[in-house]
Amino acid sequence: MINLEKYSGLPIQMRDDYSLVFENGLPPVTPTVREFSAMKSYLKDPSSTFWNKGVYYMYRNIAKPEDREAITNAGIQYDITVVLPGLMGDEFSKTIGHYHSFKPGTQVRYPEIYEVIYGRVVFIIQSATSDLEQLQEAYAIKMERGEKVLVPPGFGHVLVNPTDDVAVTANWQPSANVSDYTSYEKHNGAAYYVVQSKRLGSGGKTSTESKYEPNLNYKNLPKLAETRPRELPQYELRSAIPMYFTGVRDLAKLDLLVNPDSYLDDLTPAKLFV
Ligand SMILES: [Fe+2]
Repeated sequence: MINLEKYSGLPIQMRDDYSLVFENGLPPVTPTVREFSAMKSYLKDPSSTFWNKGVYYMYRNIAKPEDREAITNAGIQYDITVVLPGLMGDEFSKTIGHYHSFKPGTQVRYPEIYEVIYGRVVFIIQSATSDLEQLQEAYAIKMERGEKVLVPPGFGHVLVNPTDDVAVTANWQPSANVSDYTSYEKHNGAAYYVVQSKRLGSGGKTSTESKYEPNLNYKNLPKLAETRPRELPQYELRSAIPMYFTGVRDLAKLDLLVNPDSYLDDLTPAKLFV
C-alpha cells in the first residue's frame, strides 16, 4: 500500500493493484475505467498493445462529508486520476485528451488545475482556434510530485506517465464542464506524442528516457515548448500545500475555474509557466 495522504491531503491509500482505498470516513468513489480497447484512435500506433485491460482510472467528485456542500455550491469538483505505467508501442501510457466546454455566454473555455500526488508526469497541452481546427500553441509541462499546473482556458490536455511507475494526479474542475474528445480522436492524439527514446547499449532494459514526436495528422503544427509550472500564490497553489486544502479553506480562490472570463489577463502561458 502507498499512502497518498501527504500529497493529496485526503486519507487515501493505493493498493498494489493501483486501486484506491478511501479511509477515515472519506466516502469511497467507484472509478470510471478507460480501457485500452477504447483508446485506439487516440494513439500513434492503433495496432499497439498494452499489458492491462484498463489504462487509467478516474475517481470523480471526491469530498469529505463536511466539505461536500460548500464544494458543490462553488460549482467545482475534485477528481483523482490513476495512470498505470507502460508502453503502447513506443508511446508512454496516457489519457486520451480533451478540450473543455465554453463557459455559457462567453468565448472562454473552462480551465482546470492539476496536481501530482504520486510519481512524475508530463502534460501535453495545446490551444486551437475556437472550432478546434487550427492549432496555435503547444507545451510539454514536466511535473514532479506536489507541483500544480493551471491549464489555461482554451488548452486541450493529455496527461502522460513517462515513467515505469504509476502516476496519480488530482484536479479541480468546474462541474459544468463538458469534455470534448473529438479533435483528439480525429487526429489520433495530441500535437506531440511522448515516446520512449531508444538508447544504445541499454542491454535490452526498458528505458524511461522520453522524447517528443510530432503528430503529423495535424495540418499545422506549432513548435513544442518545454516548460514547467509556476507557483501561483494568488490562488493558494503552492507545491507545499495539497490543493484539496486550497479548495476547502477558501473556495473563493478557485473562482477562476467557474468565471475564467474575469481572470483572462492572469491565465496566460507566460504568467502560468516558467
Ligand atoms: Fe480536463
